[in-house]
Amino acid sequence: MSVTILVGAQFGDEGKGKIVDYLSDQMDMVVRFQGGDNAGHTVVNDSGSFKLHLIPCGIFKKGCKAFAGTGMVINPDELIKELDELESKGVDTSELYISERAIILMPYHIALDSASESSGRTGIGTTKRGIGYAYADKARRNALRFENLKDREYRLKRIEAVMPTVNAELAAKGCKTFSVEEIAAKTDEWAKKLGGRIVEPVSFINKAIDRGERILFEGQLGAMKDIDLGIYPYVTSSNPVAAYAAVSAGFPVTKIDEIVGVMKAFTSAVGDGPFPTEMNDEMSDGFRGTGNRIDDEFGARTGRARRLGWPDLVIVKFAAVINGFTSIAVCKIDKLDTYEKIKVCVGYKLNGKPIDYMPSATDLYKVEPVYEEIDGWMSDTTGIRSYEKLPENARKYIELIEKHTGVRVKYIGVGPAHDEIIVR
Ligand code: GDP
Ligand code: IMO
Ligand code: MG
Repeated sequence: MSVTILVGAQFGDEGKGKIVDYLSDQMDMVVRFQGGDNAGHTVVNDSGSFKLHLIPCGIFKKGCKAFAGTGMVINPDELIKELDELESKGVDTSELYISERAIILMPYHIALDSASESSGRTGIGTTKRGIGYAYADKARRNALRFENLKDREYRLKRIEAVMPTVNAELAAKGCKTFSVEEIAAKTDEWAKKLGGRIVEPVSFINKAIDRGERILFEGQLGAMKDIDLGIYPYVTSSNPVAAYAAVSAGFPVTKIDEIVGVMKAFTSAVGDGPFPTEMNDEMSDGFRGTGNRIDDEFGARTGRARRLGWPDLVIVKFAAVINGFTSIAVCKIDKLDTYEKIKVCVGYKLNGKPIDYMPSATDLYKVEPVYEEIDGWMSDTTGIRSYEKLPENARKYIELIEKHTGVRVKYIGVGPAHDEIIVR
């Protein structure tokens, strides 16, 4: 198990942080391979409770390198803040490295994202962290990368080259513009604070693979928010699918050994867009909690109440198909402990007819979920650590997931903390 990729199988917030933290015990390196600080990955372990946004969740394991990879868009101010927070809680961050090819997410990306979101016409419910605008600048070759922090003279030329375009857009949206000096001063500060962590990523990762190191690639968000394959336009601006780990890091897909898909035992989503199994408010309040517990259903990044719904195996199956899962981790099975009946979506109908594919957003709004109602188990699973000891109806639910996805469920989360897990 040299190269393992872990990704979200739904709309994000499936419990990736918890599973990465668990698996990192067996890893030499954990790489975040896409996204930015739109992520909120919750980890509860011996070091405390954390919601990580940019730093890979392997940071807690001694001797495990944490790598912020090329596919990311990184706001250096947020990264410095997160490093300070971890260090203040006694976490050693000396093994955090940054790809020189990763994109620098600038203050103006955040301003543009916020302005777009405030406009009723263009808003899709983003996290307002500047993600879409940073990736847009990357695609049109108007971005700066971490490599630019290594050479001040060249960096100033780049800033001078990109700012006229950026400022014209800021002005058109009624936002404050930025001077070249302002941005240059920011980059000087980032170079000082982060310069020592920047590495050439392709050899860094390929040499580690060749040495037989165990590497875990940590995805952000989930399959349904993939820019190409998800519910466009209510998606993020990168590819949270397994193949992108290889594409962005620069190693061959043939070197991937394991692909773990993480799903929540029910479904949640943050932001706008179609959600076939969404529950009404009254029902979802039961799942959501009040916000006092670490595992209550509020966005780990924005604090927004998550939209909640019944489990949807059409989505998980789709995620399995596009990613090639070799195993599935089901988190939060314990949150179904008190339900007498559980409605599991096992198919969709469109215009009254069953369909055997995942439609795009236009049609996904119109589908009618086909449910199989199963009996709940009505008992506490939080203390259980072996599959055989799970109540029979909980095992039947796990086996239903396996039947519909064709993938073995290897990990089952029964609580938010590191050891609250069943491994089969
Ligand atoms: P991520 O973005 O995929 O890392 O997931 P988040 O951290 O945003 O959201 C997952 C939430 O579920 C967090 O509040 C976790 O503490 C919690 N969680 C993860 N696994 C389990 C589990 O097995 N049981 C319970 N009760 N909570 C869990
Ligand atoms: P993790 O990694 C849940 C959602 C936003 C919005 C869409 C685009 O913790 O699972 P963006 O800010 O990326 O331009 O927003 O994606 N979104 C998330 N939803 N969990 C996340 O991250 C998310 N990151 C972005 O709500 O619908
Ligand atoms: Mg999250």
